[in-house]
Amino acid sequence: MKTIIKNGIVVTSTDTYKADLLIEKGIIKRISDQILPETDEKVIDASGQYIFPGGIDVHTHLAWPFQSTGTADDFVSGTRAAAAGGITSIINFTNPKRGQTLLDNLQEWKKKGEPSLIDYGFHSIISEYNDHVLEELPLLAEQEGVTSIKLFMAYKGELMVNDREMYKIMKKAGEAGIITNVHAENGDIIDELIAEAISKGNTDPIHHAYTRPPLTEAEATARALAIAEAANAPIYIVHVSCADALEKIEQAKKRDVQVVAETCPHYLVLDESYLSLPDFESGKYICSPPLREKWNQEYLWKGISSGLITTVGSDHCPFLFNGQKTLGRDNFAKIPNGVPGLEDIFSIVYHFGVHEGRISLQKFVDVISTGPAKTFGLYPKKGSIAIGFDADLVIFNPNTSRVITHKKQYQNVDYNLYEGIEVQGAITQVLSRGEVIVQDGYVVGHEGRGQYLFRKKIPAGQSSVSC
Ligand code: URP
Ligand code: ZN
Ligand code: ZN
Ligand code: ZN
Repeated sequence: MKTIIKNGIVVTSTDTYKADLLIEKGIIKRISDQILPETDEKVIDASGQYIFPGGIDVHTHLAWPFQSTGTADDFVSGTRAAAAGGITSIINFTNPKRGQTLLDNLQEWKKKGEPSLIDYGFHSIISEYNDHVLEELPLLAEQEGVTSIKLFMAYKGELMVNDREMYKIMKKAGEAGIITNVHAENGDIIDELIAEAISKGNTDPIHHAYTRPPLTEAEATARALAIAEAANAPIYIVHVSCADALEKIEQAKKRDVQVVAETCPHYLVLDESYLSLPDFESGKYICSPPLREKWNQEYLWKGISSGLITTVGSDHCPFLFNGQKTLGRDNFAKIPNGVPGLEDIFSIVYHFGVHEGRISLQKFVDVISTGPAKTFGLYPKKGSIAIGFDADLVIFNPNTSRVITHKKQYQNVDYNLYEGIEVQGAITQVLSRGEVIVQDGYVVGHEGRGQYLFRKKIPAGQSSVSC
């Protein structure tokens, strides 16, 4: 099956130009001023529309057990929402059970991922340190193409590891061609601040922010970077929320630490004031790190522009408002941490970034597709529009607008973080390996068509210069 996309404006992380694309067997075969149909090619007219490489969301928590509950999207609803929102590949976190080997755990997650509509891979979370874990790391990369792991410096008793464990794991990971994702918050201090707040009767959601102040993120970020430096290993700092943490990353880059930084759409657009909304509306916005004071946003956008931040990930960790978020109505510490965003990340970053003039079209493509592909071993198969790449494409009409509402979303949650916001542009079609999976804004791709992403090793010394 051949497809020609005609008259579109191709946008990559380096160029914007008008061209026709020929797709054959799911791969981009030709890019030219004009490609005329020869036989029975399917022709898509993209006149006046942008053609972006499909979004790559490397921070999702589909079907994820967490904090005595579990996320509301599985791999069917989650990847359907992703497709609708212009995301054609995800890398999801696993969640290990006590005593289970990493490889056994991964098999369970690969099974969970099978019904996906889009391509999917995994970062293996390590929350339990032992010698077996170290032995398994090279096997994860070689046998399974899992070239990233994740460590948490918070959520004590559930996911948190200590500095010694981090050092040993990161060192071995680096040697095995694996990059380590780190959730950088000082879990010990946060747990004390929470206990103090609760003992004083400070139970409202705003105290989630007060008990996780920027210093707890900045301190852990600096420590994680020092550990990576000592271990001579690449590190990926997830969900950077504030200027103080970003400053630590900038300093580490100057010391040549192999660091890659990610922020999330909610930190770029929403702020701490949402945690004071009345009638427990605030509960919808609880995530960690928390939403920050608004002035931080300018630093995050500038971080993207300057290349300090090379990825925007959704940190899609959705919980229903009714029945899950409300578990913490009387105590903020019982609200499951996490927000939905997989369906909106592409549109939100385009609107507040490109449309509102904060970043260029090229930067947009970089943080939504090319950067994550390069960092996580998917490039040069995913992450750009060029001959030989998978035809993962988003056809986007920049001359229209739409209002975001949970009533029209595919995400399996009873609210939307960006409810009522009018965003410029609309996704008209999405192709995954040449197959149309979104048509006129509606998902038409079928369950189970997604393929497992076996990723390349991450050579030491490369991650810091990924883009
Ligand atoms: O609040 C968040 N971010 N929940 C998901 C788990 C994590 O920390 O990434
Ligand atoms: Zn996290
Ligand atoms: Zn997360
Ligand atoms: Zn506008």
